[in-house]
Amino acid sequence: MLITTVNISYLLGATAFVIGLRQMSTPATARKGNLLATLGMSIAILATLFLPINGADNNYVWIMGAMTVGGIIGYISAIKIEMTAMPQMVSVFNGLGGACAVVLAYTELFQLAEGGIIASEAQLLILLLTLLIGAVAFTGSMLAYGKLQGLVDDRKVTLPRHNLINMAILALLVVLYIYVYVSGSQPGIIWITALLLLSLLYGLSFVAPIGGADMPVVISLLNAFTGLSAAAAGLIYSNNIMMVGGILVGSAGIILTVVMCKAMNRSLTNVLVGGFGENHKSKKEKGDKQVAKEITCADLAVQLYYSNTVMVVPGYGLAVAQAQKVVKRMDNLLSANGVDVTYAIHPVAGRMPGHMNVLLAEADVPYPKLLDMEDANEAMPNTDMVIVIGANDVVNPAAYDDPASPVYGMPVINVWEAKNVVVLKRSMNPGYAGIQNQLFFHHKTRMLFGDAKTTLEELNDEIKSLEG
Ligand code: TAP
Repeated sequence: MLITTVNISYLLGATAFVIGLRQMSTPATARKGNLLATLGMSIAILATLFLPINGADNNYVWIMGAMTVGGIIGYISAIKIEMTAMPQMVSVFNGLGGACAVVLAYTELFQLAEGGIIASEAQLLILLLTLLIGAVAFTGSMLAYGKLQGLVDDRKVTLPRHNLINMAILALLVVLYIYVYVSGSQPGIIWITALLLLSLLYGLSFVAPIGGADMPVVISLLNAFTGLSAAAAGLIYSNNIMMVGGILVGSAGIILTVVMCKAMNRSLTNVLVGGFGENHKSKKEKGDKQVAKEITCADLAVQLYYSNTVMVVPGYGLAVAQAQKVVKRMDNLLSANGVDVTYAIHPVAGRMPGHMNVLLAEADVPYPKLLDMEDANEAMPNTDMVIVIGANDVVNPAAYDDPASPVYGMPVINVWEAKNVVVLKRSMNPGYAGIQNQLFFHHKTRMLFGDAKTTLEELNDEIKSLEG
């Protein structure tokens, strides 16, 4: 009876995960989806507490203590985290998920080695896989966190011919795992520990050469690894909800990885061994001594006020400046004068999937005003004024015309096809990919330098002075 009740609760929890995930796929229902998935997880955790644990029924104090401490840390992190630091938070939480899988697998393997229990071949294989994937996800995510937080310098952790070193470690790992697997159902603790250490090392080495704009892809891939290790841990304990949850996280991570690679027009292999973050200068950048033309807030205000159509292209700088609400005020002022204001959303603008959608939703920008990249590019030739706010790589024409550029082939927003373009940023510094942008020197482009929020506030004052 108890087991049936727990399984029914798991079914309810799993259904809530699936519906919640579905709802998270559009901004209009994402918040509801998040709450539903949280409810599903709460049901799953509560039901699990009632499961009988062999000879360990007095462990509730430990369980509750760990849940309370974890819950408090999670709550404080969620409240305090800056939107721009989201990838770091995902990395740390993801790494801790991998570490949990490692602890589970290592404890079980340790018991096999010490306790004389004979595991089936399938059990042993699953335990070894959990140890491998969890360990790689753990150290890989921690290094990704260090890189994103600026604590670790890419160049200092990358060795010459690093990809060959990675292949050598991977080959050694495969040989060791096969050896332990075929050598019997009671692996020696020395071998298990050697496997654990080598897997942890591989996680670090795997992420070491990857940097720059490729980090979000790697984080998503590591997320998939953690999901898979959780699913494997679910198999060890024959726990249905762990399997379902792990499979959902694993598949969501893999889908997201593929979507991001597609949006950058790169293969996953190219991301993992391509060295996108390396210092790169295309031929065009080296020789150019061009001068970008500037515009004042007052002039831009007049142009915007008397335009028929204005398209805002937000990027990472909008998130840094936290200028989303000021943009919405500009939108309100212009819309009140009959200007049609829309927003062009590039799938990899910002630092995480859906970054711009979340920011603009925070400022109550209505969803129908958001255009995806294809629709924005179609509308571009009929747009009077494009205002690029803190975006750089996602509006770089080198994607079309500079085969030597690392962004060559990536789909971008063709802002130069509009009648006029104004770029708001603080300096001529490059974006995340570390490359210069010819858009800034285009004959249609004017630059407006300064922090996006301060500039937009000044711009709004100028627009207001044109009213009535
Ligand atoms: P970036 O190319 O990173 O450019 C952001 C620009 O914002 C910078 O050039 C910076 O110039 C400006 N900026 C920073 N702070 C500012 C402030 N306070 N006020 C005004 N401007 C400010 O951003 P993007 O165009 O959004 O491109 C995203 C990058 O991330 C791409 O390379 C993409 O491939 C990569 N990426 C993203 C994802 C996801 S899922 N989003 C996944 C993989 C890769 P200044 O310093 O001169 O101000």
